[in-house]
Amino acid sequence: MRNMTVTEERATACPVDHGAARCPASGVNLWDFDLFQRQDHHAVLERLRETDPGIHWVDEGDRGSGYWAITRQAHLKEVNRRADVFSSGHSGTQMRDPDQRLNVSGFATNMTLIDMDPPRHTRYRKLVNRGFTPRMISLLEDYLQNRTDIILDNVVEKGRCDFVRDISAELPLQAIAEMMGIAIEDRAKVFDWTNAMVGGEDPEFVKSRDDILQAAAELFGYSHQLQTERRSTPSDDIVTTLLSADIDGQALTELEFDMFFLVLCVAGNETTRNSITRGMMAFFDFGDQWEKFVSDPDRYMETAVEEIVRWASPVMYFRRQALSDYEIDGVKITAGDKVLLWYVGANRDPRAFEDPWRFDIERTPNDHVGFGGGGPHYCLGASLARMEIRLMFREIARRMPDIHLDGRPDFLRSNFIGGVKRLPVAYTPSPSYDTVPLHRLGSAAGVSGTVGYGGHVERTAS
Ligand code: HEM
Repeated sequence: MRNMTVTEERATACPVDHGAARCPASGVNLWDFDLFQRQDHHAVLERLRETDPGIHWVDEGDRGSGYWAITRQAHLKEVNRRADVFSSGHSGTQMRDPDQRLNVSGFATNMTLIDMDPPRHTRYRKLVNRGFTPRMISLLEDYLQNRTDIILDNVVEKGRCDFVRDISAELPLQAIAEMMGIAIEDRAKVFDWTNAMVGGEDPEFVKSRDDILQAAAELFGYSHQLQTERRSTPSDDIVTTLLSADIDGQALTELEFDMFFLVLCVAGNETTRNSITRGMMAFFDFGDQWEKFVSDPDRYMETAVEEIVRWASPVMYFRRQALSDYEIDGVKITAGDKVLLWYVGANRDPRAFEDPWRFDIERTPNDHVGFGGGGPHYCLGASLARMEIRLMFREIARRMPDIHLDGRPDFLRSNFIGGVKRLPVAYTPSPSYDTVPLHRLGSAAGVSGTVGYGGHVERTAS
């Protein structure tokens, strides 16, 4: 194994032999945030994917060391699974090289679950897994069904709304907040902080880099306060579970908990919100699929949810760093090289998906890589995300069957999260159910034991 730093010189020309043809990566700039805001990145990724061998070296100029772009599903799965060769801990999982990287909390990489390698990652993941067992997730279902009903109650009478603000953003936020026991009055703040952290290049959310640091620091401070409270007053919730020792006597340290909280707020919110939004947009574009879905949501639900995640691919890429030389399909990746896994490109790979540009709610098989391509970092929240998507689309189909686009969508300026900021929609108004919040019914409102979120959507029983 060669011990290289990311700043070490390497050839900027593509080392792959393209014969007389020009390398498809020449001139590619996936730092161009406008490209993503215009939704033109698909064409660039397609060019990289569809020119053999499908793995190309992309020069980043002043922005970084350059990287191998992985855009085919089979290559991505191979890299994703070989965590022994392709490290998340060496240089983190973001495109920005660590020396220039905005490190949100000022800590080195290798601090969050997502930026760790085994064996450290294995121990940490085992500890946090306790919050994501099928039992824990199913305990949330009643609470999230209730939240879904209330979210729709709040808009059905109006006949039009902003799908993102009024529908898709709310449920993922409530799910994380409820899991982690975030107080009702603090939930909006947490939402703003995560927006600022992920909308990193969008002037609408972030005015300066200091704003991102500020948002991360506030989120971090909040989590610290939460764990201090739970350590002194243990409760029957996930935070307490995460902070207490497991059967081997292991527990998360203070710092590990803070970092996990931070990852969870970002990983759980933006991803599911944008899957629901982009799923709705796909249904607008493929009206026959919406008609079919509305005719019998439960019949199509399981395959529809997977197709929504494939189509949306809200996490567009993650980064790895090669720890040793490795060859894929005749391409020699050298120890020290940066590698980007473009999930959003691999999910349109015609080698893996028949007619990949068709949104097909019955697609079978559907071996998408929206939650990752397998291996130790596979999305921890996949079951929760699937549940949220299921609950939301079942209710939309029932209560807004004629929902349609009512203006232009507005996309996030980011090359990392495939975000949609606004999506104007309209539908025939219908009466609200006046859903009663769970805490009004006297039940334990969700697993955290908080009293449930009332706020502006709270309604009284008629
Ligand atoms: C549709 C929604 C979601 C998508 C598309 C998504 C996607 C991903 C992807 C691509 C990864 C990296 C996989 C890899 O490197 O192999 C990941 C990891 C992760 N996700 Fe998700 N995610 C979603 C929802 C959630 C939710 C709801 C949560 C938590 C409540 C969550 C928590 C995490 C965590 C903690 C990791 C890091 C796991 C590790 O490093 O071991 N995600 N997710």
